[in-house]
Amino acid sequence: MWRILERLEWELRRRLQCLYMARLRHHGIEIGPGASVVRGAALGPTVESVGAGTRIHSNCVLKGRSRITVGKYCDIAEGAHVVSSNHEINRANLSVDFQRRYGGGELLETRGPVRIGNGVWIGDNAVVLSGVEVGDGAVVSAGAIVTRSVEPFTIVAGVPAKAVRKRFDDEVIEELLALAWWDWPEGRLRASGALFEKDLTDADAAEFLRGFRRDRASAAGAG
Ligand SMILES: CC(C)(COP(=O)(O)OP(=O)(O)OC[C@H]1O[C@@H](n2cnc3c(N)ncnc32)[C@H](O)[C@@H]1OP(=O)(O)O)[C@@H](O)C(=O)NCCC(=O)NCCS
Repeated sequence: MWRILERLEWELRRRLQCLYMARLRHHGIEIGPGASVVRGAALGPTVESVGAGTRIHSNCVLKGRSRITVGKYCDIAEGAHVVSSNHEINRANLSVDFQRRYGGGELLETRGPVRIGNGVWIGDNAVVLSGVEVGDGAVVSAGAIVTRSVEPFTIVAGVPAKAVRKRFDDEVIEELLALAWWDWPEGRLRASGALFEKDLTDADAAEFLRGFRRDRASAAGAG
């Protein structure tokens, strides 16, 4: 009996998830292949795109007046918020509803779009504010409040978020940015297990990555 009910529940959840993804697409959000936005995450109308393979977990909120774009193969953990608006704070009133009811003009303002790069990990309950660009491969720690842009492959933490350290040596970061593996086609990603198994803090990491680039160049030459 319970097994049947569990099976039914699972099937219902699966269908609701498909419906939710279809609704997001219907509302004009460009969602790349293999991306998933877990039902229970809330994406506002200014979210423009969610890249291939990205997962946005439950209780995430992406909202605000300015454009929000999320790159490929990101992991946005539970309860993370991306907020691309502020309330105008130089007026007598701070409530948007009040301003609509009694006049006084638009109360929402923004410091600009938010761009989450590729291969980014945003931890539980982190908040990314308007005008921020989170660079490719960056890590936003749990609970961080990000008020300034984050360099690629940098870990930030705290309130306001500050750089803790870079994930790799500069040379390795340069190679990773040049490789831009997130733009590779599915087949190439599947065939590149060695790249994703490698510890990129090893002393030979930059040379290892250069090897991948050379292989690519010679394959392109042969083709
Ligand atoms: C950032 C993180 C990945 C660890 O990165 P790390 O570079 O290995 O960091 P360390 O543990 O060496 O800590 C470095 C410093 O940052 C601080 N720090 C680490 N995480 C922090 C956080 N979330 N908020 C504030 N400070 C943090 C540490 O206290 C340490 O400070 P200290 O040097 O003054 O002692 C991890 O702490 C984190 O936040 N993970 C996210 C977990 C999560 O949300 N998971 C979601 C589901 S999988």
